[in-house]
Amino acid sequence: MACMACLLLALAFVAAEAQQMQSNISRGSSLTPTTNSTWLSRSGLYAFGFYRQGNGFAVGIFLAGITEETVVWTANRDDPPVSKNATLRFTGDGLALPTAESPNYFVKSSGSASYASMLDSGNFVLYNSGREIVWQSFDHPTDTLLPSQRLLSGDELFSAKSEADHSTGIFRLKMQNDGNLVQYPVDTPDIGVYAFYASSTGGKGENVTLNFGADGHLYLLNSTGSNIRNITDGGFPTDEGKLYLMRIDADGIFRLYSHDLKKNATWSIEWVSSKDKCVPKGLCGLNSYCVSIDLQPDCRCLPGFESVNQGNQTSGCERNFVADACKNRNENFTYTMEELQSTTWEDVSYMSLRLSDKDDCIQGCLEDGNCEAAFFDGTNCRKQRLPLRYGRRDMGTSNIALIKVGVPTKPDTDPRIVQPGSKKKGRTDILIIGLSFTAFGSILSVISVIVLWKQNVWAYKRMSAVNGDLELNESVAPRRYAYEELEKMTNNFEEELGKGASSTVYKGLILGSQKPVAVKRLEKVAAEGETEFQTEIRVIGRTHHKNLVRLLGYCLDGPKKLLVYEYMSNGSLADVLFTRERQPFWEERMGIARNIARGFLYLHEECDTQIIHCDIKPQNILLDEFMCPKISDFGLAKLLKADQTRTTTGIRGTKGYVAPEWHRKMPITVKADVYSFGIVLLEIICCRRNVDWSLPEEEAILDELASHCFENGELGKLAGDEEIERRQFERMIKVGLWCIQDEPTLRPSMKKVLLMLEGTVDIPTPPNPSSFFSAI
Ligand SMILES: *[C@@H]1O[C@H](CO)[C@@H](O)[C@H](O)[C@H]1NC(C)=O
Ligand SMILES: *[C@@H]1O[C@H](CO)[C@@H](O)[C@H](O)[C@H]1NC(C)=O
Ligand SMILES: *[C@@H]1O[C@H](CO)[C@@H](O)[C@H](O)[C@H]1NC(C)=O
Ligand SMILES: *[C@@H]1O[C@H](CO)[C@@H](O)[C@H](O)[C@H]1NC(C)=O
Ligand SMILES: *[C@@H]1O[C@H](CO)[C@@H](O)[C@H](O)[C@H]1NC(C)=O
Ligand SMILES: *[C@@H]1O[C@H](CO)[C@@H](O)[C@H](O)[C@H]1NC(C)=O
Ligand SMILES: *[C@@H]1O[C@H](CO)[C@@H](O)[C@H](O)[C@H]1NC(C)=O
Ligand SMILES: *[C@@H]1O[C@H](CO)[C@@H](O)[C@H](O)[C@H]1NC(C)=O
Ligand SMILES: *[C@@H]1O[C@H](CO)[C@@H](O)[C@H](O)[C@H]1NC(C)=O
Repeated sequence: MACMACLLLALAFVAAEAQQMQSNISRGSSLTPTTNSTWLSRSGLYAFGFYRQGNGFAVGIFLAGITEETVVWTANRDDPPVSKNATLRFTGDGLALPTAESPNYFVKSSGSASYASMLDSGNFVLYNSGREIVWQSFDHPTDTLLPSQRLLSGDELFSAKSEADHSTGIFRLKMQNDGNLVQYPVDTPDIGVYAFYASSTGGKGENVTLNFGADGHLYLLNSTGSNIRNITDGGFPTDEGKLYLMRIDADGIFRLYSHDLKKNATWSIEWVSSKDKCVPKGLCGLNSYCVSIDLQPDCRCLPGFESVNQGNQTSGCERNFVADACKNRNENFTYTMEELQSTTWEDVSYMSLRLSDKDDCIQGCLEDGNCEAAFFDGTNCRKQRLPLRYGRRDMGTSNIALIKVGVPTKPDTDPRIVQPGSKKKGRTDILIIGLSFTAFGSILSVISVIVLWKQNVWAYKRMSAVNGDLELNESVAPRRYAYEELEKMTNNFEEELGKGASSTVYKGLILGSQKPVAVKRLEKVAAEGETEFQTEIRVIGRTHHKNLVRLLGYCLDGPKKLLVYEYMSNGSLADVLFTRERQPFWEERMGIARNIARGFLYLHEECDTQIIHCDIKPQNILLDEFMCPKISDFGLAKLLKADQTRTTTGIRGTKGYVAPEWHRKMPITVKADVYSFGIVLLEIICCRRNVDWSLPEEEAILDELASHCFENGELGKLAGDEEIERRQFERMIKVGLWCIQDEPTLRPSMKKVLLMLEGTVDIPTPPNPSSFFSAI
């Protein structure tokens, strides 16, 4: 019944001003939180009075006529909540909660007030005896504007702290005197570098106002009343019982909402100032940067930093251990520079150098005691002091943030360190080898480890555990091993872990530390010459990324060629994906997919020498102890002979994953990897092998099934019995289908793939993967 009343009321909205005397609250009236807590507007839609806030009450205006009580204005929003024995009194001076010490005004009128009215427009008004307005809530907006309310020149809206806490938050929207409507973080001057939204109407004259029409139209009028800018186009239904409100939300985005009274609906968003939730500056606190994941903002710490307060993104990050050698005179620290690609920050450099070499920039910062970070864009090296602010991922920027990170060095005399075959003190090398291979059609993946223990390995391990993004920048070139050393470590190649087409993997133990290791013995090495082999090893050894298995050593002894990689304790992606009991949940799987994409993005676009993997399959993706995926066997394509057992010689890769261009004798580019990645992505999404003849024939080939189901709107068939949000599932399938387009040029780059997986770009509908060629 109440709702029918609001419906009628909403129709009368536009005429609200005409009916402004409807609820006449006389001077001397009062409200208390528990009884007589509000004054309602005539229709009952809006209420002025007490509402619950925290463990007490606040005074404000809220929508009382809808189920989703919505606060649109709060008096003294930053005061602590009042207790339930408070009494709000209406006197000639306004509304007050008198205490022994002070009158404590919540509303202070400019003239003597004789009565008040809660209007159906949402405006609460005090009148004098001459029926003139002496105060109105529409002149004192907090975070919300309602239709017919204006934001005058010089006025601002401030976001709330959170949806539940209406006190002042960290963003503001200002109607500037120069005519520009701009969003800034709080506590910053009104200057361009801090702005994150602007109507671009600066210079349109003084006294420009933001206006809000009954049809949801938000627009700017100049002082002579001309429309100079439409923020929203308006034209939303006005005559069907629709409510509108505009609010700068706690996340810094300002939005136009509508609420359909007829449908007993919730608020729906009609318009947003930014689709990217990472845009508001300051959403992530100091020394952290914002990454949009599935459209949700996620704050990450700089390398070497950790959250001040987990669960509060605005609290920012601090160094995870004290490493300021200058201040502490701690000679047991050294520094390295960690790299952070594709991020933008506030630039408050104290020195800018014209340098075109990143290493010079790194060196310049390392040698400068004041330098704590530097931004390098290919031409300039801009030195920074901490803290860094307003960071966010931006795949469009070439800016590299270099962060100085202290690394405690291990004392030279640590007795635990054993040095094989070396008299030199203080260094032991541990090599790690990871590897995967195929055996007897069913695939087994094996990883082993030899470890390269540098003096600072303790620091490396500690930081990796704290921050998964971390990678010591210091290049540790792969160490050359004598064959006898590896023989000893593997106990004369006693335990075979597995066998692949061109290699065998053995288990081993580091001499001294007894850490488990694996050594991969290469057969069929194409690069016969020693120089050629070493060149390739150097290329592989130079690639450092958290999503790549690290090559730590090698052995080159005539025909004996062995590689030693990093240890990965969770086996291969194939092991977990195709073993029912080990299958990760959807979110975890999507995280794995994104990380794999990051590894390939690095191989394709970010490392010194572009590396095309040529043999991407779940058996070649290994998982570390934190289930973080790392790509293995990259760079081997050039080293190994193409598999001669296949009918078409020259094809590298594994059936079911190779791109069609291999068969068409077309040039092989990074897009061949994108194809294989697409197949692996579909396997990750659906938790099954791409080719599985135990299924009915029409379901046996996953990529064909996926494109069929996608076209026929039957994606449910692919999801199995797992509960996955439909929209997300569809998006991931779309990414997979784009990757496996027959025509290489139609496939997205790895960079684009990552953006799509992260949910930061729209994904157009993919064509049928084979339509391009069948159309010719
Ligand atoms: C509202 O109340 C005031 C004082 O109580 C009175 O003077 C005024 O006439 C009333 N106005 C209306 C429209 O009833
Ligand atoms: C609530 O207000 C009404 C009139 O507005 C009054 O009659 C009633 O006594 C009040 N109740 C309390 C508990 O103050
Ligand atoms: C209201 O109650 C609180 C304790 O609940 C008390 O400290 C305070 O003095 C009371 N205020 C009034 C005005 O009675
Ligand atoms: C803007 O408003 C102020 C105060 O109302 C007034 O003094 C000023 O002349 C106005 N400027 C213009 C350009 O209308
Ligand atoms: C307002 O805008 C109109 C149209 O753009 C323009 O003709 C007029 O001069 C502007 N008024 C002021 C005060 O700038
Ligand atoms: C704003 O939109 C209205 C129609 O709703 C149109 O008449 C007007 O010209 C537009 N103003 C500008 C500045 O584009
Ligand atoms: C609106 O929904 C609420 C709960 O969701 C329910 O209690 C109420 O009866 C509904 N009203 C109408 C008119 O459907
Ligand atoms: C989060 O941290 C910031 C800065 O340290 C602080 O101002 C804010 O109140 C915190 N928010 C919450 C919900 O604790
Ligand atoms: C540095 O290491 C030496 C021993 O290796 C130790 O005695 C000394 O206290 C360390 N210095 C600091 C500042 O920790």
